[in-house]
Amino acid sequence: MNFEFTEEQLMIRQAARDFAQRELIVDVLERDEKGIYPTQHVKMLAELGFLGMLVDPQYDGGGMDTVSYVLAMEEISKIDASVSVIMSVNNSLVCYGIQEFGTEEQKQKYLKPLARGETTGAFLLSEPEAGSDATSQKTTAEDKGDHYLVNGTKNWITCGSSAGTYVVIAQTYPEKAHRGINALIVERNSPGISVGPHENKMGLRSSDTNSVMFTDVKVPKENRIGEDGFGFKFAMKTLEGGRIGIAAQALGIAAGAFERSVQYAKERKAFGTLIGNHQAIAFKLADMAVKIENARNLCLKAAWLKDQNQPYGIASAMAKQYAADIAMEVTTEAVQIHGGYGYVKEYHVERLMREAKLTQIYEGTSEIQKIVISRDVLKD
Ligand code: CAA
Repeated sequence: MNFEFTEEQLMIRQAARDFAQRELIVDVLERDEKGIYPTQHVKMLAELGFLGMLVDPQYDGGGMDTVSYVLAMEEISKIDASVSVIMSVNNSLVCYGIQEFGTEEQKQKYLKPLARGETTGAFLLSEPEAGSDATSQKTTAEDKGDHYLVNGTKNWITCGSSAGTYVVIAQTYPEKAHRGINALIVERNSPGISVGPHENKMGLRSSDTNSVMFTDVKVPKENRIGEDGFGFKFAMKTLEGGRIGIAAQALGIAAGAFERSVQYAKERKAFGTLIGNHQAIAFKLADMAVKIENARNLCLKAAWLKDQNQPYGIASAMAKQYAADIAMEVTTEAVQIHGGYGYVKEYHVERLMREAKLTQIYEGTSEIQKIVISRDVLKD
């Protein structure tokens, strides 16, 4: 077993760390406070090749491996999860799905600009009544011969207003339930699409999250991804990889809060000594370190399996569930270690705690991951 990273993986991690600690840190508090979309930082992500880092170079991507993706996601999420979620959705949910299951024409037309970062993508699965219960899609994609007619509403869409390319999951044959669902590439500026206001979120406030409404939106047949009725499996396969990205995001949020807590414990004095000298604080830091190391290993294992073309769905569910849950625990402890300072914005840990909460909810709640894991454990 080799736990060493390659030179290339270390360089990618360093590039992500430099970007986060030099660029993102500058205005992360203001963007969080005011809910400002990180336009300049998304351009920088594109210049670094991070928006399409997993895409094959023949489609203008970076051709990097999933282990490197985890390393980069961790570094960026230590500072700003609003930026890392844009990177994760574009890479894992949109580019991956088109590269793996799309036609050559779809790759030329849609994947290349997404990989270059000229536009970003959004993944439209969730609905008012279909979040965890993803088979219950109410959005319809009626077969009209040479095109689909899409009607319905999607909710909680990350990059709902900023994305130029949507991957939309919709029901074509309700009588076939999940086997009648299709995945369609839809251009954001198609007539009939309207986008709701930014959700006023608790965390990740600088990334846009919106409802998206479809009224008689015409989508050419050639924009369907995969065979007729492949949409639900497409969504499940795509989310397997997406969960590695969000697991790494949760890991980064936890690691960011931990690093700030260690620093604080070495500076702050109470009862005549640095607080790190009190076991009440030192043991919290030890517990945090063990949880973060476990989460990192789960993330890297899932990424490594994907890179080896081995099944990784269960590993990614384990990584996502564990990393998200410990991110909530670690950030809560980080606020506790900081005391009153932890409860105000300048020390960042209250923001990281708000960000951690979302990792337990999106791309499948922690409970959904437990469904996936427990079904595997119990199968014959
Ligand atoms: N790969 C391939 N196929 C899969 C699969 C996988 N990982 N998981 C399930 N399937 C297939 C099954 O084989 C089955 O197919 P057949 O009937 O043809 O055999 C079909 O899909 C239905 O499977 P289940 O019976 O297991 O379906 P279920 O209704 O019990 O649901 C679930 C399973 C795991 C709960 C699933 O609904 C799920 O993952 N829900 C959560 C959805 C989710 O993650 N939403 C997040 C939205 S995206 C987002 O958050 C993005 C963002 O903004 C950041």
